Amino acid sequence: MSSQMTGGLTGAAIVAGVCGAPIKHSMSPVIHNAWIQAAGLDAAYVPFAPAEDRFEAFIEGLRGGAIRGLNVTIPFKERALAVADTASDLARMAGAANLLIFEADGTIRADNTDGPGLLGAIAAQAPGFDVSAAPVIILGAGGAARGAVAALLLAGAPQVRIVNRTLARAGELATTFGAKVIAADEAALPGLLTDAGLVINATSLGLGGGDGPAASLELTPADAVIVDMVYKPLRTEFLQRAQALGRRTVDGLEMLLRQAVPSFEAFYGQTPPTTVDVRRLALHLLGEA
Ligand code: ATR
Repeated sequence: MSSQMTGGLTGAAIVAGVCGAPIKHSMSPVIHNAWIQAAGLDAAYVPFAPAEDRFEAFIEGLRGGAIRGLNVTIPFKERALAVADTASDLARMAGAANLLIFEADGTIRADNTDGPGLLGAIAAQAPGFDVSAAPVIILGAGGAARGAVAALLLAGAPQVRIVNRTLARAGELATTFGAKVIAADEAALPGLLTDAGLVINATSLGLGGGDGPAASLELTPADAVIVDMVYKPLRTEFLQRAQALGRRTVDGLEMLLRQAVPSFEAFYGQTPPTTVDVRRLALHLLGEA
């Protein structure tokens, strides 16, 4: 029986959710519940904000079968991987999980859909772009950068160049991922841009409307694609500069929406309905529409 028929949840409802600290401003509940409603599913997606020092206790309690699965966001992604019994290659390579599935036998499976979200957003907003054709530059060396490296390598990127203010952090990623990943400091960036196919801002620069990374985007080939993981504002200063140069751009909101798709499929066993425009909903929440 669907929840549309009953006007609410039945005893057979599938429950999933998202946890983070803070979780108040997460867009995931709005996105997943819009899909649930549009598909007429007997299901719910709820937010959780466990105390930071009790994250593991919170997760252990869910082994009992309380819910089907959980998205995990800042600051728990690394601890989510650690608490799981099994993990996908992507989660292991990224060193972080944004998706936990609670199996019927009490085990926990970890996955990471942030990287696939990046690739999905590129496919949607820069159709035809070939990740394997040219080197990729990632600006930043934090958790967001790490997840991107794993997915880009699996997608066939010939080289990933990590450029970071703190060179040592970029060096750690290069050491972890091996010969295809190189580390550089900001002074080396201009020389690295000239043959780059993809430039990704994985720093927090530009968040809230400030200036983005100081990369000289005019040095990139005319067909390079520029990506910003920051989505507040949607049109960051970095993306505006890229657009002014005529480069194709990919925004952080599309990444956020795309990472939600495999999560929804894992929770509810079907692809999200296309009858609801979740991007419009999210833009509204962001005050962009
Ligand atoms: P996340 O998990 O979201 O990636 P993070 O681990 O805090 O967050 O990483 C933030 C990234 O933004 C880092 O690469 C950081 O550079 P440092 O490693 O040198 O700290 C980068 N970043 C933040 N503020 C920056 C600034 N003002 N200039 C240059 N890089 C900055």
